[in-house]
Amino acid sequence: MKVAVIGAGVMGHGIAEVFSIYGNQVFLYDKFEEALKKGLEKIKWSLDKLYEKGKISEKPEEVMGRITPIKELKEVKGSEIVIEAVPENFNLKAEVFKEVEKYVDGNTIIATNTSSLPITELSQALLKRDRFLGLHFFNPPVLMGLVEVIRGEYTSDEVFAKGIEIVRSISREPIPVRKDVIGFVVNRILFRIFTTACRLTNKYTIEQIDSTAKHILKFPMGIFELLDFTGIDTNYLISKEVMKRGFDFTCPQLEELYKKGYYGSKSGKGFYDWSKGRPEIKFLPGPTPQELLVDAVKEGRWLVENGVSTDEEVNKATRLGLGWPKGLFDYAKEYGL
Ligand code: 3HC
Repeated sequence: MKVAVIGAGVMGHGIAEVFSIYGNQVFLYDKFEEALKKGLEKIKWSLDKLYEKGKISEKPEEVMGRITPIKELKEVKGSEIVIEAVPENFNLKAEVFKEVEKYVDGNTIIATNTSSLPITELSQALLKRDRFLGLHFFNPPVLMGLVEVIRGEYTSDEVFAKGIEIVRSISREPIPVRKDVIGFVVNRILFRIFTTACRLTNKYTIEQIDSTAKHILKFPMGIFELLDFTGIDTNYLISKEVMKRGFDFTCPQLEELYKKGYYGSKSGKGFYDWSKGRPEIKFLPGPTPQELLVDAVKEGRWLVENGVSTDEEVNKATRLGLGWPKGLFDYAKEYGL
């Protein structure tokens, strides 16, 4: 299959890498030459790691050989699917869709990897809206086993089914998101945990909060570590977009860091100093699991009660999308929430 990925940043390069690993012909576009170069370097680094560990059997050069960097959007012509992964800015994404639609034919699926913008709203930039859907990957796409498949108001049944099929073809678990709600399933839960953690800083240090996440709940990363890892800039832009649409994502610390240019792991500093690699999170007594998870569990119930997801899907989505050892509702039972 010919796949085009628009945007070679944190998510875009990873999505391109996954499609290439599974034998697809990938075209990777970025408006900025430097970003494209960096994206390709990161793919090479990641493929080398995967090869060293025996997680891929094909040589990295061969996988790289299926990825063609493109400098003009018109080169997406002939793609079966175009996946947009540019920054979380509505107008920027809308411009990309309008431009892409000029070059592809009627059967091409256009997907967005947006974290926070409504699919229906975004589809309004297109002339043919039934071809559009959300395919939401998790960072880093090459290691995370989940992709949310989101239908907007106009997405056709055929395109939605094809989206699920494409996700399976790259060996990822598709989670259908039945309603186009802000943050879909995983991010709605994650945004609650982020805001809870930011609020808890009036009582605990970030190290104490991350210690509970890492050492008691056994999450793969602390909450502030994850904010840094997914990008302070990305999370700040997300928080602005979702707040505009009535979803509470209050975290004043994000704005402070953003304004200082501390974008997290990618810039070497965020909540933590990343100049020497991942922060070491020591065990410290901190918030209880109940304090950290109560709002997230309420959000999980909201998703089920409003027909967006099922209990089983919420559990699966939090395990595979966030790398938790247990699902959200397993924690809820364990801690009596
Ligand atoms: N490709 C290949 N290898 C990679 C890699 C990549 N992209 N990233 C990390 N690795 C390697 C590391 O280099 C390391 O290799 P080594 O053992 O040779 O040093 C190995 O994987 C393990 O990494 P670490 O020791 O640093 O850490 P972990 O065992 O914790 O695994 C992780 C890393 C998979 C990222 C894990 O920490 C994790 O699951 N974290 C949570 C991530 C998460 O929650 N993602 C979703 C965020 S929300 C989102 O993306 C949505 C968006 O809309 C905001």
